[in-house]
Amino acid sequence: MSGAGQLVARGKVRDVYAAGDDALLLVATDRLSAFDVVLPDPIPDKGRVLTGLSLHWFDRTSDLVGNHLLGADRASFPAPFRDEPSLAGRALLVRRADVVPLECVARGFLSGSGWAQYRETGSVCGVALPAGLVESDRLPEPIFTPTTKAAEGHDLPLTPAEAVDLVGRGLYERLKELTLAIYERIADTAAARGLIVADTKFEFGFVDGELLLVDEVGTPDSSRYWPADAYAPGGAQPSFDKQYVRDWLDASGWDREPPPPTLPADVVAGTAGRYREAYERVTGEPFESYLAPAGVAGDALGDAAALDRLRKERA
Ligand SMILES: Nc1ncnc2c1ncn2[C@@H]1O[C@H](COP(=O)(O)OP(=O)(O)O)[C@@H](O)[C@H]1O
Ligand SMILES: [Mg+2]
Repeated sequence: MSGAGQLVARGKVRDVYAAGDDALLLVATDRLSAFDVVLPDPIPDKGRVLTGLSLHWFDRTSDLVGNHLLGADRASFPAPFRDEPSLAGRALLVRRADVVPLECVARGFLSGSGWAQYRETGSVCGVALPAGLVESDRLPEPIFTPTTKAAEGHDLPLTPAEAVDLVGRGLYERLKELTLAIYERIADTAAARGLIVADTKFEFGFVDGELLLVDEVGTPDSSRYWPADAYAPGGAQPSFDKQYVRDWLDASGWDREPPPPTLPADVVAGTAGRYREAYERVTGEPFESYLAPAGVAGDALGDAAALDRLRKERA
């Protein structure tokens, strides 16, 4: 068992620290991954947007499923984390779970890898769809399209039979039901704020035999948000997620394999602005009203250095 305070995992976006035997500290850094590759440039305050939005949605889904959240207030974190100002607003103390090895994806609209699969096969993750759908079309009903949870590289689509083989029939049915229910909650809530949630992905885990929602929820990294007033199926949609930076990367001629290119300053700023806007559009609150109570000092570049130092010290 790793000791308190040790780095136990480094995901693409999050640094995960032990916080006692039963808890973890999930630190959302400002790293950005696109096409499953981490880009070299941090996006200022992106980790805070992800954390603030996860808190927003954990709160609004907890009647459907319990979740891993223990606390988000830095003063409640164990040492040494409570004394680390760079963690303000970007870290969650959570219950340590045995994570189910599926990315539980719900899709209400045909976009991204779902659209790519449909164009080739007429189905998405083995779920057959009507002929003649166009890119970004609304699906007849939301579908559950889980993928593998790859430690590195790309998550792979699974058919229902393959997903059942991985987790068993009973758990598969449970995950499908929960994923669609949580998606429906998020999509309905966001619709009232003029947003479409095209698709989203969740992770679940077991704590003492109880199935909980873990990781992040309803963030622009895990969900495609589109402004409803601009919705026009038949092509890609404007969005508040990574699409802006994905488009820049594709235009740069990058082949989507490491190493990724460096982002120009205006693309970093444009991406940071879109993440903040996502927070404000989804919650209806100014991002400052999240930052100020969390005690954020407001030095995003200093944060990146502090988080790197913390990670190296605790590795
Ligand atoms: N409550 C939890 N217990 C154990 N692991 C968790 C919990 N919540 C999230 N995780 C894991 O922490 C990691 C978060 O890091 P992240 O950068 O999001 O990873 P990834 O690159 O896989 O998206 C993921 O591997 C996720 O499965
Ligand atoms: Mg993740």
